Amino acid sequence: MHPDSPKTREILDTLKKFESPDVTYIDDAGGWPIIWQEAHGCEITDVDGKKYLDLTGAFGVAVTGHANPAVVRAGQQQMQTLMHAMGDVHPHALKSELCRKLSQLTFEKWTSTWTDPLHGRTTLCNSGFEAVETALKTAALATGKSGIISFEGGYHGLGYGALNVTHRSHFRQPFLSQLREFGHFVPFPTRHDDATDCLNRIESILESGTVGAVLLEPAQARGGLRFPPHGFLSDLRELTRNYQTLLILDEIYTGFCRTGTWFACEHEGVVPDLICLGKGLTGGFPMAACTGAHTYMEAAWRPSRGEAVHTSTFLGHPVGCAMALAQIGELEGMDACRVVREKGGRLVELLRCGFGGVEGCSVRGMGLMCGVEIGGMALEVAGQRVFRAVREALSKGYIFLPCGEFGNIVSWTPPYVISDGELERSVGVIVELLASG
Ligand SMILES: Cc1ncc(COP(=O)(O)O)c(C=O)c1O
Repeated sequence: MHPDSPKTREILDTLKKFESPDVTYIDDAGGWPIIWQEAHGCEITDVDGKKYLDLTGAFGVAVTGHANPAVVRAGQQQMQTLMHAMGDVHPHALKSELCRKLSQLTFEKWTSTWTDPLHGRTTLCNSGFEAVETALKTAALATGKSGIISFEGGYHGLGYGALNVTHRSHFRQPFLSQLREFGHFVPFPTRHDDATDCLNRIESILESGTVGAVLLEPAQARGGLRFPPHGFLSDLRELTRNYQTLLILDEIYTGFCRTGTWFACEHEGVVPDLICLGKGLTGGFPMAACTGAHTYMEAAWRPSRGEAVHTSTFLGHPVGCAMALAQIGELEGMDACRVVREKGGRLVELLRCGFGGVEGCSVRGMGLMCGVEIGGMALEVAGQRVFRAVREALSKGYIFLPCGEFGNIVSWTPPYVISDGELERSVGVIVELLASG
């Protein structure tokens, strides 16, 4: 037991009374959660002045470090001049600059050698799930087909549209009566043998002629750090092309160098039709994007005649745009893909060293999206064991999150500015708490 300080207790008591239930998990015995006061780089300070090492990047958001000075500066300067513009009516200059930049980073780069190169067209959004819903709407309009194939274990957010393609019943069950259920779920392959079965299954659904798009995370994050076998994404690309079905990649977690390339699809040179981005895009301002090949975006959406069919009050927020442009500049400046590949390689080595001989444990990772799955026992029991370890690590000054449906995987998605020494210490703590039994 780790009793909370009076200051922490007071804040949690207020939250407990006035925030909706079922948002923040609070252990009345103390020790979870902590109250964040400040965050810089990889270091979090709580309201009592205690320091923590953040191995989560705060849901994979703080890619260039918490409060990256250049990103903060860009946001502050923007706030002083223009804090709000008019979403789909009167724009501001940074919105066009960001849409242009996202096109350069994606479709222009991916198709520069094609006979008819593509460029990207973007709808800016306020959260990841909205980017997914924008992609779903785009696919429905561009193809005239409402069906979507998505994957077991997939997480695409919790809006009513996104819930139709997010798999876990924990999130869906309470609202099933209100879901339209346009999604067909297929197993997410993690081995070569499963990939063939999965592609056959997808093909049999595509033959129905009712599916407009296949949507997936190129590597499942919240679903438990699940990576498809190399070649699966390329085969899926070919299959969807043969059936004139769009391929939507949800790179909200994997985007912006997280797996060692700007976007995870680049590991196989796969060009999707639509890509959803968020999290690391701004490093902390709620903004996301759905960027599509201009051909499909133009097939789906007619030029606005004054009343946009899909928009929102804060669309293309000036502060978010300023921060996103600064964040992309920082990623380019630090050669983030190389840094992530090197540090990710080191992290996997450390994890293999620590868990190699432990029965039932499996280490996996790509770039700085790594983890260890605790097995060899019932999944629920493994999940409880992981949560105990994560809580104990918190009391020692390390912030981790479990992932996977049963929470039996400890994940590392730290800011890219983490040092080798910090990675080593963090692995040491988890090995000590988990491998010993
Ligand atoms: C792959 C993926 N897609 C979509 C989302 C939803 O994003 P948001 O929570 O910003 O709505 C998440 C969030 O974790 C995610 O990991």
